[in-house]
Amino acid sequence: MNDKYFIKAENYISELFHLTDPVLAATLQSVQDAGIHDIGVSPSQGKLLQLLARLCGAKKILEMGTFFGYSGIWLARALPADGQLITLEYDPQNAAFAEKNFANAGLQNKIQIRTGNALELLPQLEAEGVGPFDMIFIDADKPPYAEYFRLALHLSRPGTLIIADNVVRHVFDPATPEDKKNGVLRFNQLIAASDAVSAVILQTVGIKEPDGMAIAIVN
Ligand code: SAH
Ligand code: DHB
Ligand code: MG
Repeated sequence: MNDKYFIKAENYISELFHLTDPVLAATLQSVQDAGIHDIGVSPSQGKLLQLLARLCGAKKILEMGTFFGYSGIWLARALPADGQLITLEYDPQNAAFAEKNFANAGLQNKIQIRTGNALELLPQLEAEGVGPFDMIFIDADKPPYAEYFRLALHLSRPGTLIIADNVVRHVFDPATPEDKKNGVLRFNQLIAASDAVSAVILQTVGIKEPDGMAIAIVN
């Protein structure tokens, strides 16, 4: 088991299930062209998110951490005609790239990007009465993951699916800064102990380092 093995495996899965198309490829290319390290989910993880969205019949999806819109495209494609993805992004430049990529995907009518700090945007969404969401994907900065989870509960109903990316790597990676590690540890302890959800963590590999996604259903 080495890096080469799991990259080969991801490419095998991606080819087998045709996990790319001109829109997704252009989105990944836009990250390359911007000269930014790609921190989006892998193709197979994108498809997994889409399948999960379909499984819960999602009409309203919330994402924290848009980046260039790659995971957002996978999620929004699972929505019915009258469905909506609200995606939160702190960095206005990332949001601008994502907006272009969503337009290129023909998804601009289904996706609303809100630019700002998710810690402030989430209470705003609650005040506006936008929820409850059918599915919530937590993938923004790691230190406040537990706070994101608590705020996500306010935007949920029984049965809401809450997914959180990158909840394993920072527990074990010696290069991880303390604030990220503690953020993820606090989040994991919270979902494990919380009566509000039933949850587990699934290890993931994809193209990146080994990591994990938390999967939680609101009770
Ligand atoms: N979900 C994306 C990847 C997200 S990467 C995908 O898989 O394609 C994490 C993103 O969260 C980055 O774009 C970063 O700018 C954003 N982010 C960081 N801190 C944030 C905050 N406090 N509020 C909202 N977004 C934040
Ligand atoms: C980072 C963030 C992510 O959401 C991810 O999947 C990988 C890396 C990061 O901030 O470095
Ligand atoms: Mg992530």
